[in-house]
This record gives sequence, structure tokens and C-alpha cells, in this order.
Amino acid sequence: MASKAKKVTKKAQSGRAKKRPARAPHPGKAARDFPRGFLFGAATSATQIDGGDRASDWYEFSGRPGNIRDGSSCLIAADHWNRYPEDHRILTKLGLNAYRMGVDWSRFESRPGEWDHQALDHLRGMLDSLRRKKIRTLLTINHFTLPAWWLARGGWTRRENLPPFLRFVEFLLEGVADLVDEYITINEPNVYGYMAYLTGQWPPGESGLRGLRLSRAVGRNMVLAHCGMVERIRKIHARKGKGNLRIGLAMHLLALEPYRPDNAMDVDRTGRVDFLFNHAFSDCLHAGRLLAPYGRGEKIFDGSLLDFFGINYYSRRIIAFDLFSPRRFFIREMEPDNVERSDLHWEIYPEGLYRVIRDSYARYGLPIRITENGIADASDEKRASFLRSHLSSVVRALEEGIPVEGYYHWSLLDNFEWAEGLTARFGLVAVDYVTQERSLRPSALQYRKIIQSGRLT
Ligand code: FCB
Repeated sequence: MASKAKKVTKKAQSGRAKKRPARAPHPGKAARDFPRGFLFGAATSATQIDGGDRASDWYEFSGRPGNIRDGSSCLIAADHWNRYPEDHRILTKLGLNAYRMGVDWSRFESRPGEWDHQALDHLRGMLDSLRRKKIRTLLTINHFTLPAWWLARGGWTRRENLPPFLRFVEFLLEGVADLVDEYITINEPNVYGYMAYLTGQWPPGESGLRGLRLSRAVGRNMVLAHCGMVERIRKIHARKGKGNLRIGLAMHLLALEPYRPDNAMDVDRTGRVDFLFNHAFSDCLHAGRLLAPYGRGEKIFDGSLLDFFGINYYSRRIIAFDLFSPRRFFIREMEPDNVERSDLHWEIYPEGLYRVIRDSYARYGLPIRITENGIADASDEKRASFLRSHLSSVVRALEEGIPVEGYYHWSLLDNFEWAEGLTARFGLVAVDYVTQERSLRPSALQYRKIIQSGRLT
């Protein structure tokens, strides 16, 4: 949601998280900000770090000139598939007790029906390495990327395509259920629909009215896929797993504000974005029904579809009504002046993290995990304070009694940032893409300090 931005001159938009009241520590013992057992993690996804997968839609897409801003491809990325032992040592060095990682279906079924058991064994090795290090693994089953062959058949737009996807889920689970007990089914269905079917910046590059129609089908089929995954994960875990099973979803949530709070049209458009982008998908899972715009309330599941709610939070958007943007549903994004920004020009707005946690808990009443939060900051000048201010929003929510179970910083390593390529640097750990050398950024050491003390100050 980045284009067509306009300057905001108003000062009013520079909110910061309120200062927490000082707490009296026990004599001789400093009070902790985070409860014991809080999950301090980092997050990654397969395409963005693994390398070596030529069967994915992103490999094809990034090979076509003009699709990736810096002309890079995801073919090698951080070569994590081969270098995971070194990267797992870094997790330990940072004191992390949790790690969110992904898998790419295309790696395991590069052509229909051709299952790669060697790749599955390799994945087992990765998961086992994490288990031996006592790191709790949260596994994302779908993080945007698809096998090119499945996308060529219509990908998420066709309901008939769900059975092959669910066969992959069974293959995966049969292979690793004994090593994993926490899952994210789908990462950011809202961002996927927007980037791949409304703006056309991601494969398959659809947009316009056709894209809009397809995006509804994509959302609907992803809801159904989530149900299918939950059934299969529960069934296979009952047989093979360890009984700590937790299943969640990771939604990208935007902190939204109307440009002119007293303008009914701005308020209306903001509410529309809030519903369609932030809530429409997860409302279906909460209700066990296909709700508008994905359906007419059809019941799709009995019982709960989520054990926790994952929030990916990065930034705020300010929304105005614009009569001249009918193709953008009369929505215009405004850009506040005088705010701090990341290398990708995303506003740094920690208060927003508190707000999306509070609102999500009020809406769904589920335990919360911050499954992504981070900053593109090549110089590492802003990351440490970004971490601190956003964690302070988490602490504020905890103090209000909201069960936030963990925080996974995006990202462990510099990585392939989709259409932005390799130039956006999100890592706690810098990667030299020529030598594949890793080096801890100073902010990583700050994070370690917070983890070790359980305190922000
Ligand atoms: C999120 C994606 C993640 C990464 C970050 C920066 O929307 O889930 O893969 O690209 O943004």
C-alpha cells in the first residue's frame, strides 16, 4: 500500500507509545518487563533466505527483467538451506528461544506428483537441529511462494486446486510432525491478495477488475485451505505429534488513521481499508464461516480454527477520500511529514503495534504472537531503538493483561525482500551476498541484552 502518497502537513500524527508507569523492583531483584517463558524469536521465510529452488513462481518471476527493483533473484539469497548450522548457532548466540521459519512447497514437489524425500530429510535435519538447541519452532506452511506448475493452473484462484495443496500438507506433516508442534498455516493472505492480484507487483501479476474478481476467489480458497490444513494437522498430530499442538495465522496489520478525523468520507474509507485489509480474512476463521467479501456466511467449520493470532506489524497508513481515484476505491494514502522512516520509506510508528494488539485481542480474544516486526535499516542506526520502542508497546499490552506470548523479530538475516530484491536489509545479522559471510549487527546485541534480562531498560 505504498504508491500515490501525499504529504501531510499536520503535526497531530506523531503519536508515540505512552510512557509506562515506573515499577518498584523487589529489593535486590530487578523487575522483569517480560514474563518468564516469553518467546523471544526471529522470523524468516524459505524463499527469502534458502536459495536453490528453481521450481517456484518467485524463481521464474524474479528471472524476468523489470520485476525486481534491484534486478536480483532469489536463487541463492542467503544460502540458508546449506548454511543452516551456522545460522542456528547464531540463534543460540543471541539467546533466542523461538524461531519462525517457512517451507516452500515447490522444493518438495517441483513437478506434480514428484515428491522429493531427500529435501524432506534435509528439512528434518534443520528442525532437529533447532530441537537440539531447545528452540521452539513455529513453522509457516505457505509464505507467498508457490510451485510454478500450480500457479500456472490458476494457483489460489481455483477451488479445484486445493486437493494438490492439501496433499503437500499431508506429505510435509507425515514427514515432520514429530519435530514441530506450532504452525502458521498461511502468511499474510491479505498482503498476498493485494500484491499479487490488485497491484500486480508479485506473481502472477494480476490487477484491474479481473484481478479484483480473482482476489476474492483467492481469499475464499485460502480460507478453505486453512480449514483443510487445520483438519489434517490435527489428525496427523494426534497420531505422531507431541500433543502441544498450536495453530495460528499471520496477518499483516496496518495501524490506520483517517487523514481528517472529522471528515466523514475519510473516516469511511479508513474503515473500509481496516475491514478489507486487516480483518475480513481472519473474521472468517473466527466465525468458521465464509463472510463477505468471500462468501455469504456459509458455515465451513465447526469448532475453533485458531489457537493463537499472529500479527505482522510494520507501519501506519493515513487514509483520505479521493474523488479522483475510482480505480483505488476512492482511497488516497497520505504521508505525514517529520516522521522517522526506514530505508523502504515505511513510517516508524511503535504506538501502532500496541493498537493492533489491543484491537485484535478485543476482536478475537485469542492469545497473540507478534509473528513479524522489523525494519529495513542497512546502517543499523535505527534498529535498536525500533526494537526497544516496539517491544515497549508489547510490554504495555502485557501490563493491560493481554496474553502476548511472543515476539519474532523480522528478520534473523538479511534476505530477498520480494520485489524489492536484496537491497532492503532487514537482518539482525548482515549477510554479504558475495562471500555469504554473516556478521552480527550491533542491534542484535541489544536484542540479546533485552532477552537476557527480560527488561527493556
Ligand atoms: C512481510 C512479509 C515478510 C517480509 C516483511 C518485510 O509483509 O511477510 O516476508 O517481506 O514483510
